Amino acid sequence: MAEATIWSVGGYAPPHIITNTMLSEKMDTSDEWIRTRTGIRERRTGGPDETTATVSVEAGRAALEARGVSAEDLDWVFVCTDTPEMWSPATACFVQDMLGAKRASAIDLTGGCAGFLQTLQMLSPLAQSGKKLLVIGTELLTHAMNWSDRATAVLFGDGSGAFLMGPSDAGFDGIRVGHGLSRSDGSQTGILGKPYGGTRFPITPELVAQGQLHTIRMEGQKVFKHAVTMMSDIGRRVLEEAHLGLAQIDWVVPHQANQRIIDAVAHQVGIASDRVFSHVAHYANTGSASIGLALADMLEQSLIAPGQHLLSVAFGAGFSWASQLFYVDAVPPSKFLHAGSPA
Ligand SMILES: CC(C)(COP(=O)(O)OP(=O)(O)OC[C@H]1O[C@@H](n2cnc3c(N)ncnc32)[C@H](O)[C@@H]1OP(=O)(O)O)[C@@H](O)C(=O)NCCC(=O)NCCS
Repeated sequence: MAEATIWSVGGYAPPHIITNTMLSEKMDTSDEWIRTRTGIRERRTGGPDETTATVSVEAGRAALEARGVSAEDLDWVFVCTDTPEMWSPATACFVQDMLGAKRASAIDLTGGCAGFLQTLQMLSPLAQSGKKLLVIGTELLTHAMNWSDRATAVLFGDGSGAFLMGPSDAGFDGIRVGHGLSRSDGSQTGILGKPYGGTRFPITPELVAQGQLHTIRMEGQKVFKHAVTMMSDIGRRVLEEAHLGLAQIDWVVPHQANQRIIDAVAHQVGIASDRVFSHVAHYANTGSASIGLALADMLEQSLIAPGQHLLSVAFGAGFSWASQLFYVDAVPPSKFLHAGSPA
């Protein structure tokens, strides 16, 4: 039976860089505080003409071009995001039109920072069944920041990662999507999120007058604790269920939340830090884009080789958390668009 396979990978990091020093000029923070607490040195932000759809198109097109597949061949376009183009229609519909994916059905999924892995798990059966999917995780989180909340504003960045996916028996080798698990705990919805503007807290003149309607709220220490525990637990569980030991894992590819979380997960899982990928220093937390962007960067750096096993873990608003195994049958073609040089 065919298995769901990543045929190619695209990544896009917008060209504008916001360094910690730039942030310290507009809020009471410092490069030293941000680096020691989070490992983040800089983050990317979209230009004035960039929206969630245009940024998604960059990554999606990069994945298609890398494999030489036409957008017209796609059956589905998925965009995973918590910062959509509009409330409605779905961002994926804008992307479908801009790419020219004329035969495709398009839909968004919102799952916080674990949403991209949850989406992969949900739609892998579609790829197995022979459908061609473009799965894009995108965030413009700098648009959702309360710049007067220094504890949150320094953590996030913008970007997009895309996987072109299909069945393993269609002539394109790549990265097989293996065993995965995801969980949610909806009793924790108040701890991390963007609460205003929906039906629970509709937009009213009073709320508008308070400002910051559209911004992320977070209880940082609670998020930290849960993120480390949940990602470590679910990662170990996926390994157990797949009858794999840590020695068989070449890379852990964690959600790029922040370096202290990544280090704590590596410690709890018991894997050496040189087998845990991190580029959080340069891109910060890009939410739903984080895993796709990480893989695009790893491929560009030639860190992925045939025969490798990758274990991905993610955690985010909801709370939701997920872990996913990937098996590298062949190194898939990729394109990572990232103008500007890392600091
Ligand atoms: C946000 C986070 C880095 C804060 O680190 P922390 O050690 O918990 O810091 P605290 O919230 O206890 O704050 C400690 C002090 O630093 C201050 N502080 C917070 N943000 C600051 C900043 N950017 N610059 C300088 N000082 C800051 C606080 O005001 C507080 O000052 P006080 O002691 O005078 O009250 C940490 O909680 C964290 O990593 N949480 C997880 C966040 C995350 O990754 N979320 C997304 C998951 S998907």
